[in-house]
Amino acid sequence: MSVRVLQFGTTGQVSRELIRQAPAHDVALTALSRAEADLADPERAARKVAEHRPELVILAAAYTAVDLAETETVLARRVNAEAPGAIARACASCGAALVHFSTDYVFDGTKAQAYLPGDATHPLNAYGETKLEGERRVLDACPRALVIRTSWVVSAHGRNFVKTMLRLAGEGGPIRVVDDQFGRPTSAADLAGFVLSQAGRLADARAGDPVFGVHHFANAGETSWRGFAQGVFELALGDQAPEVGAIATADRPSPATRPARGVLDTSATEAVFGVAPRPWRAALADILAELKAEQETNPA
Ligand SMILES: NC(=O)c1ccc[n+]([C@@H]2O[C@H](COP(=O)([O-])OP(=O)(O)OC[C@H]3O[C@@H](n4cnc5c(N)ncnc54)[C@H](OP(=O)(O)O)[C@@H]3O)[C@@H](O)[C@H]2O)c1
Repeated sequence: MSVRVLQFGTTGQVSRELIRQAPAHDVALTALSRAEADLADPERAARKVAEHRPELVILAAAYTAVDLAETETVLARRVNAEAPGAIARACASCGAALVHFSTDYVFDGTKAQAYLPGDATHPLNAYGETKLEGERRVLDACPRALVIRTSWVVSAHGRNFVKTMLRLAGEGGPIRVVDDQFGRPTSAADLAGFVLSQAGRLADARAGDPVFGVHHFANAGETSWRGFAQGVFELALGDQAPEVGAIATADRPSPATRPARGVLDTSATEAVFGVAPRPWRAALADILAELKAEQETNPA
C-alpha cells in the first residue's frame, strides 16, 4: 500500500522535486499550495492535517528570504516557527509522522570541523533564529518528527545560486564571489529523493526510532561560494568559463550575517538511513543538464 503523504508547498525548489519524483516512489502525495494552506495562518494550515489524515506530512514550505527576515521577523517567525509547531501538534494528534526542513544557519559557523546534529546552535540572523525555534517546536510537539538540516540548496527551478551565476556569466561583466564562507551545496532533487525513499520507513517507525530527531543532509564535499561558482562555470561553459574573482564577506555587506563555515556532517544520517549523498559536482552536472535541455526546448 502506498504511503499517504500530505505536503505543504508546491512551488519551492524542494517542493517541486518532491512532486516530480513522487510517482517513482510508493507514495500517494497530495501537495498544498500557499493558497490552500498559508503558513502565515498556522492554526488554519494545521487543520489540513486532520482533514487529510495522512500517514506522513512533509513540510517543504518556509519563509526563506534570509535578508528580508531581518525586518519581516514577525512573519518569518509565524511561518518558520509557529506554523511548524502547529502542524507538528496536528501530526501528533492524528498519528502522522512529520518531515520538516531546517538549515545550517542555526549554527554560527565558528567550528573548524563539520557540524554534528547535536552540536550547540547559535544562529547569527533572524532567519536562523526562526528556523531554530521551528525545530524546537516540531520536536517538542511530535515524537515522530524528522528535522532535516540542509544547506546551499540548488535546482533547475526557482531562485538560487546556480541560476544567478549563469545569468551573471551571460551578462559578461566581471564576476566576484565570496570566498570566505564555506558549506556543502545540496541538490533539491537529491534531498527530495532521499526523503521519498524513506517515506515507508518513516510512516511505520515508532517514536524513539533513530530515524526521528535531527539529521543532516547535504551533497558530499565542501566548498566556498567562489568554488561553487567556478564549478558551475567549468561544468556549464568548459573552456569559455569566466574568471571568478574573490571577495570577502566584509566587503559585501548584507542585512543578515551569514555563518563562515556552515559545513554539515552527514555521517549519522548516512549510517541510520543507509544512504550516501553523492558529490555536489555530480549533482550540479545533472542540474546544468536539465537547464540546458530546457533552454533547447524553449530558447528565449
Ligand atoms: N534554499 C536554501 O538554500 C536552503 C538552505 C537550507 C535550508 N533550506 C530549507 O529547506 C526548505 C525548502 O527550501 P526551498 O529552497 O525549497 O525554498 P524556496 O525555494 O524558497 O521555496 C519556499 C516555498 O515556501 C512557500 N511559502 C513561503 N511562504 C509561505 C506561506 N506563508 N505559506 C505557504 N507557503 C509559503 C513558497 O511559496 P510561494 O511560491 O507561494 O512563495 C515556496 O513554495 C525550507 O525549510 C528552507 O528553510 C533551504
